[in-house]
Amino acid sequence: KKYLALAMLFCVLMSLSDCQCIFKLRTPGENQTHCQDGVDLTWHPKDTKWRNSECQNCTCDQCCYGYATPTRFPEDCVSVFDPKACQYVVHKKDNSSELCPIFAAHGCYVFAQIKDV
Ligand SMILES: *[C@@H]1O[C@H](CO)[C@@H](O)[C@H](O)[C@H]1NC(C)=O
Ligand SMILES: *[C@@H]1O[C@H](CO)[C@@H](O)[C@H](O)[C@H]1NC(C)=O
Ligand SMILES: *[C@@H]1O[C@H](CO)[C@@H](O)[C@H](O)[C@H]1NC(C)=O
Repeated sequence: KKYLALAMLFCVLMSLSDCQCIFKLRTPGENQTHCQDGVDLTWHPKDTKWRNSECQNCTCDQCCYGYATPTRFPEDCVSVFDPKACQYVVHKKDNSSELCPIFAAHGCYVFAQIKDV
């Protein structure tokens, strides 16, 4: 029993560390102090972080998906993406105010809904 629990916890940790980042390419017009977001075409000073409209957390070097995608949750639940909060919410199919536990997720950031297995 204990070994199974440990193995499952390990799997959750493994899938969480599987971070999706994209190295940014320099765009024409970038200079020593500013770089451009490839999605929103906004300009940002070096050494700052920002979040673009695709929910990516960016620096001048790379963009990472700033949310985790739930991969395992109970069958009577659905996972819906909230583009404002930049996160998935997993709730019961027949009641959207009843949240479900998430057993595993794929992506960089853990969020509060993930429970221990
Ligand atoms: C670099 O580019 C940004 C955005 O186009 C501009 O605001 C800034 O003045 C430029 N800085 C230099 C040193 O050219
Ligand atoms: C991603 O960006 C959001 C909004 O700026 C911020 O709250 C969050 O802490 C960032 N996450 C990381 C890991 O930088
Ligand atoms: C949905 O779940 C909430 C929270 O558990 C509960 O208060 C509410 O009565 C439920 N609504 C329905 C239609 O079952």
